[in-house]
Amino acid sequence: MQNNKAAQLKGTMKVPGDKSISHRAVMLGSIAQGKTTVSGLLTGDDCLNTIDCFRKLGVDIHRDGEFVEINGKGIDGLQEPSDILDVGNSGTTIRLLLGILSTLPFHTNVIGDESIAKRPMGRVTIPLKEMGAKIDGRDNGKFTPLSIRGGGLKGIDYVSPVASAQVKSAVLLAGLNAEGTTSVTEPESSRDHTERMLQAFGVEVVVDGLKKSIQGNQELTGTSINVPGDISSAAFFLVAGAIIPNSEIKIKNVGINPTRTGILDVLKLMGADISIHNINDQSVEPIADITIKTSNLRGVEISGDIIPRLIDEIPILALAATQAEGVTVIKDAAELKVKETNRIDTVVDELKKMGANIEATEDGMKIYGKSKLHGADVSSHGDHRIGMMLAIASCLASGETNIKNSKAITISYPGFFEQLEKLMQ
Ligand code: S3P
Repeated sequence: MQNNKAAQLKGTMKVPGDKSISHRAVMLGSIAQGKTTVSGLLTGDDCLNTIDCFRKLGVDIHRDGEFVEINGKGIDGLQEPSDILDVGNSGTTIRLLLGILSTLPFHTNVIGDESIAKRPMGRVTIPLKEMGAKIDGRDNGKFTPLSIRGGGLKGIDYVSPVASAQVKSAVLLAGLNAEGTTSVTEPESSRDHTERMLQAFGVEVVVDGLKKSIQGNQELTGTSINVPGDISSAAFFLVAGAIIPNSEIKIKNVGINPTRTGILDVLKLMGADISIHNINDQSVEPIADITIKTSNLRGVEISGDIIPRLIDEIPILALAATQAEGVTVIKDAAELKVKETNRIDTVVDELKKMGANIEATEDGMKIYGKSKLHGADVSSHGDHRIGMMLAIASCLASGETNIKNSKAITISYPGFFEQLEKLMQ
């Protein structure tokens, strides 16, 4: 993909459905009793892989664009698949799926792509094995391919070493079909979409600060889920609006769950001209419209418990920091190393090629602003968020930018380039 400098970005837009919520809607609908409808589903490759895995497990799922109908027969309605379950690039699919498969008294094989093969699965397979699931795979079940024989689980009181919604969700989903109580305690709060959605499906979740608990043998009842726009996708356009001269972008219907809005807090701290309106917090997930205008940004420190609230937005925040006066320091973000790529390395390497003054640190990065960016031959490394960050960087850079493997963007944002083009007119 080739991109050139943009003079301004103007207009009103929507972003596709939230990826985390779309996965969970398909998964919980698949293990619920009765009909679940999902509207506004993200039709990116990751969520289509989730649908594919549950179809292979025998669930009746009909999709018409962003609308999905699932006719669930409860968790016991899932059947032993005759085929391998392939999650593609999706970490959320594999980790949450492992939680569900661990409760089922049959055998499954799970694989993913090259990136998934490098990502740590021990963080979920270790507690799931402790609950009684039989999981084997490469390096003693720490990496794909994995093979699971579930059933007969006992609840645990798990203290997770990482603030990870995928770990928390995998253990809680396993706990749904385990004997007794299952609890997960995190070092900091991660996104709470699983807890909210389980409640929407009629499951009781007890929240005691950082400890979340559920009782085993609770049945889910099918429901209707409206998926809000993904704040992680909106983030690319929020930063674009702030750093590209003469811009003003309004993004409608964005999910503003407080466990996800670290990006808004940091942009405000950096001095961005951002406003949040039409807040609606009447349903499972709060939504709002967000407007951003070209802004004079200043460098900030991003560290501590805000990190899990903006972990996926760090690549685009790094780009914002290249256009901010002063130094931006990102700390406590070692989790970036185990995302779709090592996002400390890929962000630093690719932005350097475009002229940014940026360096990697042990658990984050340091960015010295403000830099004039120039076009270059860069690569997404197959990571959707790196691809989108580079596409926004190319709108600001002088000359031409070639982004290798920009196709990866369809993992979370089909229609990204079309949307960017519309704002340029
Ligand atoms: C996600 C949780 C986060 C996030 C990922 C989606 C989820 O990962 O980075 O993009 O939907 O639960 P971790 O749980 O590994 O922090």
